Amino acid sequence: MAAPYLLPLRALPAGHLVETTSRWGLGKTETGYASAMTATQKLPYTTPGLELDAAADVIDILDDRMVSLVDLALTLKHIHWNVIGPHFIGVHEMLDPQHAAVQAMVDVLAERIATLGGSPNGTPGHVVRTRSWDDYSIGRESTDAHLGALDLVYAGVIADHRGAQTKTADLDPVTEDIFLGQLAELELFHWFVRAHLENAGGHLATEGATSLKEGAEAAD
Ligand SMILES: [Fe+2]
Repeated sequence: MAAPYLLPLRALPAGHLVETTSRWGLGKTETGYASAMTATQKLPYTTPGLELDAAADVIDILDDRMVSLVDLALTLKHIHWNVIGPHFIGVHEMLDPQHAAVQAMVDVLAERIATLGGSPNGTPGHVVRTRSWDDYSIGRESTDAHLGALDLVYAGVIADHRGAQTKTADLDPVTEDIFLGQLAELELFHWFVRAHLENAGGHLATEGATSLKEGAEAAD
């Protein structure tokens, strides 16, 4: 695992989603993408009007985004606990509603997996095995540093959510609609973070940053 402040950008837009393969045993090949307890499970049924193989693909996409949001929710609390400095209380209190909203999003995605006939896996081990990024590893730091890193975290999550929305547009518009609603909220929260990093000219302190370390240092 990378050392603190040497983390890669959390997500590579249009990256791992494209390579995701079904873990539901419906004719697709299992790859290194972690399978956890659901590897060989067959979909017993799905929602009417949806083909089983399409449902399996949608479930894999939902699982990927669920894992990402579990991680985001934990990260938001971690930052809530570790920010310091003169702007502590504003940032500390800004993050709790974001955490609550992201937790609610996790529940929606998990229950969509169940609705489609899948078995949502919410164990910590599954999250760690499945994710494609390192832990957020900035500890006690200034509000500006954390907001600079959080800008990049949200950018990665939102880019992957956009990719998931695009992929589900044809597969399952109901799931796409869920992603669209979540994107509106995630993008709003991203703006709350970025408003702290913007100057009068409209430029972000984190402009050009490609890692959490760079984002934190540029904003601090
Ligand atoms: Fe708290």
